[in-house]
Amino acid sequence: MLLPRYTDITHGLARRPAHISPKYFYDQRGSELFEAITRLPEYYPTRTETALMRQHAQAIARAVGPGRVLVELGAGNCQKARALCALIRPACFVGVDISDDFLEEAVAGLRAALPGLDARALAGDLTQGVDLPRDIPRAGRLIFYPGSSIGNFDPPQAVELLTHMRELVDADGGLLIGIDLPKDVAVLEAAYDDAAGVTAEFNRNMLRHINRLIGSDFDTDQWLHRAFFNARDSRIEMHLEAREDLQVRWSGGGRFFERGERIHTENSYKYPLPVFTGMLARAGFSQAQAWTDERGWFAVVHARP
Ligand code: AVJ
Repeated sequence: MLLPRYTDITHGLARRPAHISPKYFYDQRGSELFEAITRLPEYYPTRTETALMRQHAQAIARAVGPGRVLVELGAGNCQKARALCALIRPACFVGVDISDDFLEEAVAGLRAALPGLDARALAGDLTQGVDLPRDIPRAGRLIFYPGSSIGNFDPPQAVELLTHMRELVDADGGLLIGIDLPKDVAVLEAAYDDAAGVTAEFNRNMLRHINRLIGSDFDTDQWLHRAFFNARDSRIEMHLEAREDLQVRWSGGGRFFERGERIHTENSYKYPLPVFTGMLARAGFSQAQAWTDERGWFAVVHARP
């Protein structure tokens, strides 16, 4: 079978330094590893956001209102959707995720947990813009983008994606979004370099996924996991670093990596709340209500046009 070309991957690998989009973390195993990350003691975002949503459940439900057309971007295992649907009783739910089989199963689980909920799975890559089927009503849409996934995009791209979300809703629509806030560097770095090595495995697993997509011969044993906070840009960076001089080949190309050379696999921006609400305003969401935890580690924001 002829492989699709995935020129974004091969072009990114040819660059110095090399980079691959974090969307390629999420094959089936990558989605499972991310789920394991969310349960790690060091990985505070999921736990903090879930606690925040529970603590402020009534205020969030009042702000959002019932009977919404709920659209979750990057729905993953649909655990957050389950809690939110039980809280706000939407008219219907659409989960969008790049990891299609993983999503299908999760939405089936959601239907089983909340009988009567009209829930749909939609395979899609957010970086290409979300195309909702025409039978999804426009009125009363609520976009749900939890987990600080917006942090994967650099600020201009993030504003572009938020603008796209604004275009997905009418004047009566809204956005409920989670954002990870700047905090102590040791806390941040531990969250992306856990003692059990799950995040390292998640990072290296991208190479197995890439091997299937472009027919490359990456050997995961030759790569080290690196994660650190870049204070200048207020972001966690993840990289894979060559442990030795090595050659990688793929169908139609290849590249030599010197020992110590890196592939940049992820940015996870930590936006101060006022910076983020400024970005929301630029994207056309001028009203924002935010909830944060006592430590000020995470925020859930309800934004309206
Ligand atoms: C899914 C993008 C929110 O940035 O914290 C977790 C992904 N990468 N550990 C994050 C991730 C390494 C995660 N997001």
